[in-house]
Parts: sequence; structure tokens; C-alpha cells
Amino acid sequence: MRIDIITCLPRLLDSPFSDSILKRAQLKGIVEVEIHDLRPYSTNKHKTTDDYAFGGGAGMVMMIEPIDLCISKLKSKRTYDEVIYMSPDGELLTQSIANELSLKHNIIILCGHYKGVDERVREHLITREISIGNYVLSGGELAAAVVADSVIRLLPGVLSDETSALSDSFQDGLVAPPVYTRPAEYNGWKVPEILLSGHQSKIEEWRHNNAVKRTEERRPDLLKSSNSED
Ligand code: ADE
Repeated sequence: MRIDIITCLPRLLDSPFSDSILKRAQLKGIVEVEIHDLRPYSTNKHKTTDDYAFGGGAGMVMMIEPIDLCISKLKSKRTYDEVIYMSPDGELLTQSIANELSLKHNIIILCGHYKGVDERVREHLITREISIGNYVLSGGELAAAVVADSVIRLLPGVLSDETSALSDSFQDGLVAPPVYTRPAEYNGWKVPEILLSGHQSKIEEWRHNNAVKRTEERRPDLLKSSNSED
């Protein structure tokens, strides 16, 4: 899989992809992540990528031309399944969207900034708009990193324990059950006996029951909806 991220603040995306699981996924050749600075695509003398909004008002708007030039250059090299715009008014990111995106080959993610992008970008160049939550960030970069992370960790071979992404919260419409590690007792606080028993089917039953209980207590909305993530 290949993910191209277009941004006017490329340094913001340096660290999320240069550590741990996301770095390993790239080193293993499972995913290629390229960050594209929008500025060189500006055709004006100051290399700016934003301008005042027609009609006035506070806040700058990202211009269509550098974005179009950057996307066109990428599209001249390969076909893209999705061109995603990160925006607080997009569809809310869920595990099922991450699952869906993990099956794509090539995606572009455009990070918004300032007051957003010229609406013609959204009308003509974007195939999908995603929000990571009902709050406003200063830009789409952190949101793009969240989307990329949620997708990349699902790619076969990225997680060392192949089954571990499947047992994540939300994958089966339930949040994950409690987990424990050594020591079995700390300060008199004990790990549930059943987890030390070695009885695998009983342990699975305990985990399932506790996932249901925890979902009822913390995220009853997941149980109510037929599509557990909506
Ligand atoms: N850009 C600013 N806020 C955002 C959000 N909540 N989700 C995605 N992109 C954003």
C-alpha cells in the first residue's frame, strides 16, 4: 500500500512515521508513506499556498492551484483509489472505515489548514472527506496521521501477533476486555484467577463476557446500533 500525504506543514508529519510500528511497516516494505510539501507547487513568487477569502472575512483559504498541481503529478505516476480531505465536517472515522481503507492500494490524504481549502478542491479533486472527531484541530496533519496509523496497523505483517488487530476494541463491535501482566499480585491487588488457570476456553469466555460488560458500562451506544460503529 502507498499513502501520499499533502501538507503545507510537512515537518508536523515527521515523527508519527519515524518510530515504532509505522516505521517498521515502512522498513518491511508493507507500506510506503510519502509526505509532500505543498509550497514548491505554488506558482507565485513568494511560494504561498493560501490567499484571502473572496467576499472578505477572517482567515486564509488554501488555493486550488498548488493542490491541483501536486495531485496531478501524483496521479500521473499511479492510480489512486481515494483522495481524502481531512476536515472536521467529514464523515467520522470508525474502525470500519479504517478496515475499508486498509484494502486500498494507493491513497492520497490532503491536510486542510487555516479556514480550509477552496471549495472547488472538494468539489472536483476529492473523493472522500474524513473527520477524526467533533472538535477542531489547527490543521489536518495530526488527523491524517491518525487515519494512516489506524489503517497501516491493519495491513498483514505489520503487527507481530497477526491476530492482535482482530481483537482490538471495535473490531467485533465491543470494546476490549481488561488485560493484565506480571506480577500476578501487586500491593495485594490480584489478577483474576481464571487468567492464571491455563484453561483456554474458559479464558476466552471470561474475555468475551468482560468485553460485553465493559461495553455495556462504557459504550452502550455500540450495543444499541445495528451497525455497531454508527
Ligand atoms: N482538521 C481540523 N480538525 C479536524 C478534525 N476534527 N478531523 C479531521 N481534520 C481536521
